[in-house]
Amino acid sequence: MKLILLGAPGAGKGTLASYLIEKMGIPSISTGNILREAIKNNTPLGQKAKGFMDAGQLVPDDLVINLLEERIAQRDCKSGFILDGFPRTIPQAEALDKIADIDCALSLEVPYEVIAKRMTGRRVCLRCGATYHIEANPPRVEGVCDICGDKLVIRSDDQPDVVKRRHETYHEQTEPLKGYYEAQGKLKSIDGTQGIRETEKLAVAALGL
Ligand code: AP5
Ligand code: MG
Ligand code: ZN
Repeated sequence: MKLILLGAPGAGKGTLASYLIEKMGIPSISTGNILREAIKNNTPLGQKAKGFMDAGQLVPDDLVINLLEERIAQRDCKSGFILDGFPRTIPQAEALDKIADIDCALSLEVPYEVIAKRMTGRRVCLRCGATYHIEANPPRVEGVCDICGDKLVIRSDDQPDVVKRRHETYHEQTEPLKGYYEAQGKLKSIDGTQGIRETEKLAVAALGL
């Protein structure tokens, strides 16, 4: 299955993706994680992306389209993949349609009040991309990644003012994708305000897994 996860920043795309990787046996691709790794390693891509990300804006389409094309050409994506955070604009969706036949776009619906709360407790691992929440999904050892043992950090774009800006960017540029996939008969929406396990159950039912 070739699946897109849609939803506002903090809706829970990455958290649901980590469950679906196991359940479906296909990789998840987070353009946000790839960009954060590039920034950490100070690559040319990271240098170009950093200013946009810290300002809560989208990175230019050509940069992310290139990196996505390279990633889904890799062998592990042959039998399907989950896209977490791509596409985020209509031009990105059109570029994706040229290289892959998407089965479903699953939208996680979560209002801003719920999101703002979640973001203040988020901790992430910049090495493997794992995401935690100090209350809803804590690591076994405080401040340490369960998966790879690296130190957990607060994302630099998780300050309240940047979270707000990212949310506005989502409404302006990414939310129109719901109409794009609805017109193709591929949009499914679920309530993402429940707990992590409940959201997984709703996704499994919506996807018919
Ligand atoms: P990206 O990394 O994709 O960030 P985002 O879309 O803003 O989404 P988040 O990762 O913040 O949220 P999420 O939905 O994954 O939620 P999570 O599971 O962590 O992108 C970052 C930046 O990169 C963008 O702003 C842009 O600049 C750039 N970029 C990336 N892709 C791009 C593209 N295609 N084009 C252009 N630019 C691009 O959950 C949030 C928190 O809530 C966690 O702490 C989690 O533990 C907790 N939580 C999750 N679910 C629940 C639940 N059900 N109940 C309670 N807590 C929960
Ligand atoms: Mg994420
Ligand atoms: Zn890790």
